[in-house]
Amino acid sequence: MRTRRQFNKLLSLLLSIPIVVDQCSDEKPKVDNLNFQSQNIVLSTWNNENANKIALDILQSNNAELLTAIEKAVNSVELNPDDMSVGYGGRPDRDGHVTLDACIMDHLGNAGSVTFLENYVEAVSVARRVLENTPHVMLSGIGAEQFADSEGFAKKDLFTAESRKQFKEWRINSEYKPQINIEQHDTIGLLAMNRDGNLSGACSTSGVAYKMRGRVGDSPIIGSGLYVDNEYGCATATGLGELVMESCSSFLAVELMRQGMSPMEACKECVQRIIKKKGALDAQVGILALNKSGEFGAYSIQKGFTYVLTSDSEVIKGEASSYYNKS
Ligand code: GLY
Repeated sequence: MRTRRQFNKLLSLLLSIPIVVDQCSDEKPKVDNLNFQSQNIVLSTWNNENANKIALDILQSNNAELLTAIEKAVNSVELNPDDMSVGYGGRPDRDGHVTLDACIMDHLGNAGSVTFLENYVEAVSVARRVLENTPHVMLSGIGAEQFADSEGFAKKDLFTAESRKQFKEWRINSEYKPQINIEQHDTIGLLAMNRDGNLSGACSTSGVAYKMRGRVGDSPIIGSGLYVDNEYGCATATGLGELVMESCSSFLAVELMRQGMSPMEACKECVQRIIKKKGALDAQVGILALNKSGEFGAYSIQKGFTYVLTSDSEVIKGEASSYYNKS
């Protein structure tokens, strides 16, 4: 059994009212090298401002802990029926089963992950229990379900009336065609740094809609959907998981930062590597990276990949610079 991670003890109580800044896609990224060192920072994919706020509130409270902040933030998205790419209400596979993938990684390099999890909604919490209460990194399918049950998680039907309706409509043509930026809320990937400078992150998704039964994407794969190296930085990816898995994009982004690239340069290089290998692509991948100095970057294949950064002093809602500039 793994030792429980130590709690962070030195978080300040100082709160400040965030300023909201809107940023648009631009050839020259405005956000690169903004420096939030010595602040709590939460950076997440898509329009997950509420999740960021949940994490920040926890980070700013007394004795708050980084992994708890991240877990609770991601839970809020998993439980939101309106987000049809994550957790409850997530679109099913083509056989009509909702299967979830999630992972979490802490500043000590410990990771936990679940793949192909059915009937339980808090996938990131189950992943955290894998990290804390097992000698393993990843549990899958029936084994992940049994583990969730043994840890006291409640079973839940993950279909909503809306996701059932959409599935019925999809079955008329049964065409597998992953959509770019679908409703702008594919996977939640969330990275955070506390005022001590420690980094952690998590990912959660129901995966690409109407996938084959058994398909697992990048989100629960350490190094693909998420990677954290407390010495240099962390990164997360969203979009078509197959492209991310074939390039180990999150690990690559962190390694490029280790070699001296800024987070923005690292994200851009990750996307360029995908294009170089695959050629012109009609698919989306978006990458976010945060380094130890509190600088961040965001880059995507296609336009439309949005992100939110929430720090003690600011909320930045941005759209990443992209390889292709067509809307
Ligand atoms: N990025 C989520 C997935 O492809 O499953």
